[in-house]
Amino acid sequence: MKSNFRRILYGGDYNPNQWPEEIWKEDMRIFRNARINSATINVFSWAKLQPSEHEYSFDELDRIVDMLSAENYDIVMATSTAALPAWMVKRYPEVMHTDYEGRQHKFGGRHNACPNSPVYRHFASALVEKLAERYAGNPHVTCWHINNEFGNECYCDICQNAFRVWLKDKYKTIDAVNEAWNMEFWGHTLYDWDEIVLPNALGDGFSLDSTHFAGISLDYRRFISDSYLDCYKMERDIIRRHNPDVLVTTNLMGTYKGLDYFKWAKEMDIISWDNYPAYDTLPSQLAMKHDLMRGLKDMPFMIMEQTPSQQNWQRYNTLKRPGQLRALSYQGIAHGADSVQYFQLRRSVGGCEKFHGAVISHAGTDNTRVFRDVAQLGRELESFGTATLGSEKHSEAGILFDWENYWALEYTSGPCADLKYVPQIQQYYDYFYERNISVDMLPVDADFSRYKILCAPVLYMVRGNMKESLEAFVRNGGILILTYMSGIVGASDNVYLGGYPGPLREMAGIWVEEIDSLPPEMHNGVSFSDGSHAECNLVYDQIHLEGAEALGEYTRDFYAETPAVTRNSYGRGAVYYIGTQLDKTGLSHVLEQAVAEGQVRSLIPEASELEISCRESEDTRFYYLINFSGKDQPLPESLAGKTDLITGSVNRAEDVLKPWDVRILTEAL
Ligand code: GLA
Ligand code: ZN
Repeated sequence: MKSNFRRILYGGDYNPNQWPEEIWKEDMRIFRNARINSATINVFSWAKLQPSEHEYSFDELDRIVDMLSAENYDIVMATSTAALPAWMVKRYPEVMHTDYEGRQHKFGGRHNACPNSPVYRHFASALVEKLAERYAGNPHVTCWHINNEFGNECYCDICQNAFRVWLKDKYKTIDAVNEAWNMEFWGHTLYDWDEIVLPNALGDGFSLDSTHFAGISLDYRRFISDSYLDCYKMERDIIRRHNPDVLVTTNLMGTYKGLDYFKWAKEMDIISWDNYPAYDTLPSQLAMKHDLMRGLKDMPFMIMEQTPSQQNWQRYNTLKRPGQLRALSYQGIAHGADSVQYFQLRRSVGGCEKFHGAVISHAGTDNTRVFRDVAQLGRELESFGTATLGSEKHSEAGILFDWENYWALEYTSGPCADLKYVPQIQQYYDYFYERNISVDMLPVDADFSRYKILCAPVLYMVRGNMKESLEAFVRNGGILILTYMSGIVGASDNVYLGGYPGPLREMAGIWVEEIDSLPPEMHNGVSFSDGSHAECNLVYDQIHLEGAEALGEYTRDFYAETPAVTRNSYGRGAVYYIGTQLDKTGLSHVLEQAVAEGQVRSLIPEASELEISCRESEDTRFYYLINFSGKDQPLPESLAGKTDLITGSVNRAEDVLKPWDVRILTEAL
């Protein structure tokens, strides 16, 4: 794939507007030493760009753009629409969002606009029009960054009206709404559109993640995701009018729940995201997020933000250990990033982020550990130039990730409150990760024909043509892994009658009659047909075989010796059904069989505790080896003799990777 960039972008959020101009020159000098070549500017400058309703001022931004252009930077130009100026809130208080408790906010914070406020949209588009007019033609502006970390929610009257309009468009009649939301339950029948209220704490919500009517809350989530997306598209379209060729993005947040990122991705030219691991985040959790971000558009993405060292907003803000920043940055690249960008380039003097790490710390010099790490990485990235840019990833295994299922599963009241979507998906990702099997994160409407094996954990909501496309995948020889809490409801959270797992029942060859749930200390066990044993917990499907064979049975309770895990041949493929949350050994046992049946291979033939992933350009395969294990690790024998892109030296069989060490080994294709 041709890259969007002429080099790996290396830089990050830069706020010279917070500093006197004599500092800027010093910044440029210091950044040059770190080979910094890009800057994201103008993220929170609305109040400066527009001091009052009818007054704009671009002098300072012009000077910043001129300086960066003179230094040959790739500029990532933000639009500043993520924090409202005080004058606007004073004059038009309705621009501020209303929270879940129904409180309309006063001036303060950021990400604070009501996305449906016509006043907000008017002023935001006027500002973007002026920015685009001025800078969209500038060849140094490589990419536009709209708003910032879109998210939040709004429950104001404007949004309520907009929700009614959105629903009218979707359902046409109020009777169709009543049916979709099953409003006969608790006598909620509506007779007019203006009886619809937003599902917050004052209505049918009873906490941010629970609701009396999942149908209403799901539609609200779809609606609010669309509302912010409309704001994104509004700005994007203005920029495109001024320059149809320039890249437009906004910074996403990995598995952030609030927005349907697969839907958003269709409107974005390139995905960018902010990577902020906590002290206890596992490398596999980061790897999954990178793969999800790559999967959104099935193409390379940008790391828009990461901290060079610590964050400020977590409970314990650990420093990145020597070597850790480098390893985490290469991990992003290994999974598909074509940029490494920081928040931020110079640490701020005040405000709640003054303890947030930056390339230049409060000491104001380049004589710091963090700066030396940043500079070393910068020189390395510069040294291998464009080699890896645009290179792709090829996987035989895929895992489905679906925001509507994320919302719906976590809204269910029963059978088990501990079933959280992302950790459910992560268990499957980890299996592949630990074996260095390349895996893609896929939307439910992906083209599955490229894959040999698909995991669709907790596919609670089956809608559209999901049943048909999964059946076609299996009929054509694919191996599909399904689990408990699947095929239960349709798009409005109403249950498929006739027995679980509803539309998936035929291909799974089973009927689930009941779902038991027990507290962790009362768990059950599974014995597999080969005599091995595993423990299981949380939920326990009561399964009847309807053509499938049992691979494992429960060992205790009144359902001892009934099926817990099954396999059904279907067409030329097979469906595995995992009816209870297996412990790690149990899950590995089942997935091992499925992977063998699907003939899915690891990237290298031997086991290794290194993280190994591959990208491929037209003529080269890059093996990224990263040591997150905390111990010395041998170079896998099968990779000996390959040349390291970073050092140019040939790796030998006896080589050892130290903790945090990285290799990028190349192989001609
Ligand atoms: C987010 C924001 C940035 C900054 C960082 C700090 O990602 O986009 O503006 O606040 O967090 O970690
Ligand atoms: Zn609103």
